[in-house]
Amino acid sequence: MNHPFKGRTISVVEDLSLDEQWYMYQQTAKLKRSLKEGKDVSSFRINDPEFSVYLMFFEDSTRTKESFRNAALFHRCRLNVFDANSSSFNKKESLTDTIKMLTGYSEKSLFIIRSPQEGVCRMLETNIGDYAEKMDFIQPSFINAGDGKHEHPTQEFLDEFSFLEQNEWNRDSIHIALVGDLFHGRTVHSKANGLKIFNNVSVDLIAPAELSMPSNYIQIMKSNGFKIREFQSIESYLAQQDVAKIWYFTRLQLERMGDKVLDKADSLRSSVTFKRQYLKDIPEGTKFYHPLPRHRVYPVIPPWLDSTDLNGYDEQSVNGYLTRIIEIGLLGGALGEDFTGATKEVIYKDEEFVIGAPIKKKPVRDVKTGIKPVENGIVIDHIGFGAPIPKIWNQIDKIRKTMELNYSSSHGVFSSRNIDQYKGIISLPNILSFDRRQMKMLGAIAPGCTVNIVKNQEVKEKYRLLMPPRIYNFDQISCRNTNCISHKSHNEPIITMFYRSSEDRYVCKFCEKSYSFDEIWN
Ligand code: CP
Repeated sequence: MNHPFKGRTISVVEDLSLDEQWYMYQQTAKLKRSLKEGKDVSSFRINDPEFSVYLMFFEDSTRTKESFRNAALFHRCRLNVFDANSSSFNKKESLTDTIKMLTGYSEKSLFIIRSPQEGVCRMLETNIGDYAEKMDFIQPSFINAGDGKHEHPTQEFLDEFSFLEQNEWNRDSIHIALVGDLFHGRTVHSKANGLKIFNNVSVDLIAPAELSMPSNYIQIMKSNGFKIREFQSIESYLAQQDVAKIWYFTRLQLERMGDKVLDKADSLRSSVTFKRQYLKDIPEGTKFYHPLPRHRVYPVIPPWLDSTDLNGYDEQSVNGYLTRIIEIGLLGGALGEDFTGATKEVIYKDEEFVIGAPIKKKPVRDVKTGIKPVENGIVIDHIGFGAPIPKIWNQIDKIRKTMELNYSSSHGVFSSRNIDQYKGIISLPNILSFDRRQMKMLGAIAPGCTVNIVKNQEVKEKYRLLMPPRIYNFDQISCRNTNCISHKSHNEPIITMFYRSSEDRYVCKFCEKSYSFDEIWN
């Protein structure tokens, strides 16, 4: 039987199912107890000199890098710290090539990567996975140690572990306040999925409008059933009675904002910085958390709080080392053999998007109005059915350009029979079939349209096309996010891919940015 965790990748929080996350937290608690009680912890170790851990940090880090370095040393395996500054990587070598080469240097490897580009681990999971299979290497694992503004899943796991400890391992409910720069902080964005480890979640968002949580994360929280309240400042939050006992602060990243916001820097900082006069309104037993580092000059949690009972961040930081020992142990195969819960669900459902449709027999008329009748060929019908007329023309244009149907044929917008609604039609004489790729493209551009295969003036086959669950490997699609590793400016060998996330939205496989289906076409 395959090991449930060995060789896997953690690019985002949801790469581990809730059962897997719970298992990881329980293993961490067991390790923590054993270390405190001075018990033998050798069963937690990989203890294999053939197992290589590579730390590849292309951005600054103290906590994540050092906790992972020490966690790797705990496992008594081979530790390599990749020096990006003195590597050929600086001679424009692609990241895929660099990792391919390193994969060949040991039998089993785990790469822990921090990068400014988003979606790097997802890319490597695919690219190196294919390479390893071809070369008969063991599939390496990848852990995302923070990628741009996207995710920092292992920080999320240590945060949730700390909240579970504070909640005395009760998963029924959590009431948490997120305070600070909710706009830029990837650690608060990860809470949208990480907090799902609790059954009933109430989140109070405390930030001035300029630093408020992006609406897509609020949307994810709401669709996960979280109760959300928003406040502009700590002061306005404490003016009401229902105050959370878990507060999670983040550092302000005002340097990333324009001059307009910088002019208001003092008042923005003040609204989310804890002050002595607030102490009287804090419920008994409250703990404060912070991913650290705090800003040296303007800490949102001032240092005088370090010696109070509100300090949960020191314990949280130690938990970073412990959760990371377990994460390496799971992906390295030393732990997890006894896991029996549900594993990660596939993120898209491979639904069929080409549906056979009934052919209505119509009398052949001698004289036909509208577009030129087709003797043999394809008629694409019901394009943009029911949409405003300019939108239907746009869809016709887009189909022609994207599918390169730039030869002589007819098209137009017509009112539908007996209904006061319009649709587009394109007739393509002498094209006798579309392949699956063309059908997919058509379904993605004009979902709901029908493809009629005409032979000797009669419709012989008819299909209705739905929005495909995945769109990939078309030159005409790309992610607009310049920080996404799939963006052409990064020159990685990558197959662009989008998953349908709702009725008419797609997310990039790599950076997970959400787009309307119109936006992804070049
Ligand atoms: N919390 C965190 O990610 O810290 P580092 O940037 O020091 O790794």
